[in-house]
Amino acid sequence: MEVEYLPDSSIDASLDAELRALLTTCFTKPQDVVFKDQRYFCEPYPHRWVIRDTNYSIIAHAGIHEKVVEADGRRYRIGGLAEVCVHPDYRGQGFVKAMVACIDDWLFARGYDFAVLFGESYIYQSSGYVEVSNLVYDEVTPSGEKYKAPEPAMVKPLAGIPWPAGEVYLPGPKF
Ligand SMILES: CC(C)(COP(=O)(O)OP(=O)(O)OC[C@H]1O[C@@H](n2cnc3c(N)ncnc32)[C@H](O)[C@@H]1OP(=O)(O)O)[C@@H](O)C(=O)NCCC(=O)NCCS
Repeated sequence: MEVEYLPDSSIDASLDAELRALLTTCFTKPQDVVFKDQRYFCEPYPHRWVIRDTNYSIIAHAGIHEKVVEADGRRYRIGGLAEVCVHPDYRGQGFVKAMVACIDDWLFARGYDFAVLFGESYIYQSSGYVEVSNLVYDEVTPSGEKYKAPEPAMVKPLAGIPWPAGEVYLPGPKF
């Protein structure tokens, strides 16, 4: 089955409903109820990749946020991987690995420095992602105060630059 690039700008109402149905089937924690109404968890993103079955139904999905991180006084372009999922009937067939390989090639070709995700290492380590513990992002306390929260992440260098050793700041929310 082929991995298909789906720009967000191409999504009509029927495709939106199909994506939300898949996300709702795959993500089942209480907070995932957001997928009933929107095709993203926190922020919209411009790029996604899907795999369809023989009936042309979408059975696997991965999104990419265009983001930057800041470290060592410079900015790095990152692709932020989000909402990776495979329909329960199709799991264990390497569809995540196939989508991630396409995405990494796409990011590399467009000059991104890193692919970054917040997820389980056992899913992504065979795709070349490594765990890092020096990333912080903008979080807000219940009383509305903004602070930088540390968050374990997985990264894949794409441009031959190693992931910075000191604090790496992701402006905005995590994805
Ligand atoms: C996580 C999920 C996307 C994996 O889909 P999949 O079709 O099984 O993925 P793949 O077959 O491409 O497997 C990718 C890797 O993850 C591993 N993996 C997947 N599920 C696993 C599990 N439950 N336990 C251990 N390893 C697992 C596979 O063994 C493979 O690793 P390998 O290359 O070292 O063998 C799917 O279970 C899912 O949609 N879950 C619900 C949504 C979710 O949690 N998304 C992940 C957010 S980080």
